[in-house]
Amino acid sequence: MNVSFPLGCFTAVTGVSGSGKSSLVSQSLLDLVAEHLGMRREEVEEDALEEASTEKTIGRLRGDVDAIHRLIEVDQKPIGRTPRSNLATYTGLFDQVRKLFAATPEARRRHFDAGRFSFNVAKGRCPTCEGEGQVSIELLFMPSVYAPCPTCHGTRYNEKTLAINWNGKSIADVLNMTVDEACLFFAQDALVLRSLDTLRDIGLGYLKLGQSATELSGGEAQRIKLSTELQRTQRGTTLYVLDEPTTGLHPRDVDRLLVQLNRLVDAGNTVIVVEHDMRTVAQCDWVIDVGPGAGNHGGTIVAAGTPAEITENKASRTAPFLANSLKPSRSPP
Ligand SMILES: Nc1ncnc2c1ncn2[C@@H]1O[C@H](COP(=O)(O)OP(=O)(O)O)[C@@H](O)[C@H]1O
Ligand SMILES: [Mg+2]
Ligand SMILES: [Zn+2]
Repeated sequence: MNVSFPLGCFTAVTGVSGSGKSSLVSQSLLDLVAEHLGMRREEVEEDALEEASTEKTIGRLRGDVDAIHRLIEVDQKPIGRTPRSNLATYTGLFDQVRKLFAATPEARRRHFDAGRFSFNVAKGRCPTCEGEGQVSIELLFMPSVYAPCPTCHGTRYNEKTLAINWNGKSIADVLNMTVDEACLFFAQDALVLRSLDTLRDIGLGYLKLGQSATELSGGEAQRIKLSTELQRTQRGTTLYVLDEPTTGLHPRDVDRLLVQLNRLVDAGNTVIVVEHDMRTVAQCDWVIDVGPGAGNHGGTIVAAGTPAEITENKASRTAPFLANSLKPSRSPP
């Protein structure tokens, strides 16, 4: 098959389940673009590898492929795989917070550098739990359980580190703050505030800075990944691919996600989503409808065009549903 994806646009790939959307976008397109960029698809998870077909994508890219310099796949998988990564470390704001603590007179007197305030470095962290804040208890015949560390009581740090205060709070107190609380606490520090503001912007003001990256919901993880992307200097040369990004999201969170994706497109980037949510599809620039059916009855491009053009297509099973969402809607109460 031949298919064209417009660059610098927000494109939705639609079609019934099993019609071949993921094969087209998450397999073929990603494979070909990754190969073109000389990337290895190392992000492929082990379980995904088992499911994935062993067949190699055969195909060719044409057009202005050189306008794409980066390829990013954004999914709802947790960010970071260990509890050693949390909101503060992932967004990078913890680096600046640690510098603030190291610059206090008390820390300088004791020669504590910024590394001292990392729970991943031996000198400042609790020796019992090695900075994890919790210890695993092995149970015979049963899965082991986690309990708060008896030495540091979950603070992750040793007493000497905890004795250092910045404006009356220890480094552990800071990790225990929500994003909203931290915004007030770090109101004078532009660098910290920039990361915090971005998190608040995407509706995550209620999360704690120390919340482990493994404990975020899929939707939270996805928005955090996108917000770190939005903080990068935008050169408009990145291709973002998302396979069913609105799955499991409340309509309000879908709106927030769309704000983020639209910002990426406004900066000149290309966003391609595989999508079933017609409210999302209706506001895309371009729609590629795959199908018409599933399995052997799918796999062809039924229609491609603006959302309005797709609704005119008699062969498209997506058309009537999309037409519903394109109608001028009543504003919510
Ligand atoms: N690795 C595979 N081997 C054989 N068939 C597959 C494989 N992956 C997907 N399929 C089949 O190909 C069709 C398209 O799948 P997929 O691209 O995942 O659909 P969609 O994302 O549109 O729901 C489906 O009928 C699916 O069962
Ligand atoms: Mg799919
Ligand atoms: Zn401990």
